Amino acid sequence: AMVAVPTALAAYFLGCSNGAVIISKYILRDDVRTHGSGNAGLTNFFRTFGGPLTLVVILIDVLKAVLAVWIGVAIFGVLGSNLEWLPVLAKYWAGLFCLLGHMFPCMFGFKGGKGILSGGTIAIMIDWRLALLVWGGFLLLTVLTRYVSLGSVYAAAFFPVGTWLFVGHDPVIMVLSVLLGGLILWKHRGNIQRLLKGEESKLSFHKKKGD
Ligand code: G3P
Repeated sequence: AMVAVPTALAAYFLGCSNGAVIISKYILRDDVRTHGSGNAGLTNFFRTFGGPLTLVVILIDVLKAVLAVWIGVAIFGVLGSNLEWLPVLAKYWAGLFCLLGHMFPCMFGFKGGKGILSGGTIAIMIDWRLALLVWGGFLLLTVLTRYVSLGSVYAAAFFPVGTWLFVGHDPVIMVLSVLLGGLILWKHRGNIQRLLKGEESKLSFHKKKGD
């Protein structure tokens, strides 16, 4: 508890810095959540506004996830360096709370994003083979079908699989990885329904608001 609670709080509040909300609300003065899918994420920001500010959204969400994981590893580090799985546990724990902040930001009415960019960053911070498995399939499916959400659903489902394969079978880490992937899948429940009905919107590079 001594390390788990401060890590959870720090990661949650970092996670709350939702790039799509911050840039749309405070820079463009036009909340992204009133457009497109209503989601506060990279995909819907790009769909709605496009343009170079999309890169700033990426920067914010990637940096906050990196910071959350670093802080988690640093805080868990006070328990000593003799336990080799401790930094790994710290990454999953901080990652989970960063994701919760991104998805349910308290200062933005708990309406955040679906956690693909933050989750993908966390995967990179955990293990490169895990990252390759989730990012490789995500990019392949997204490029081939132009359904970002299909790539996302794959990535979320394979996050625990990759954890089992490449990180290890520690039960606590497995539970955390299932929670991480499960939260992202649950956030995509509307997308899954649209995909099944053939009503999901495809990624397109034109007709942007404000272009
Ligand atoms: O980044 C989230 C993506 O998987 C789906 O976003 O806006 O199409 O629901 P969206």
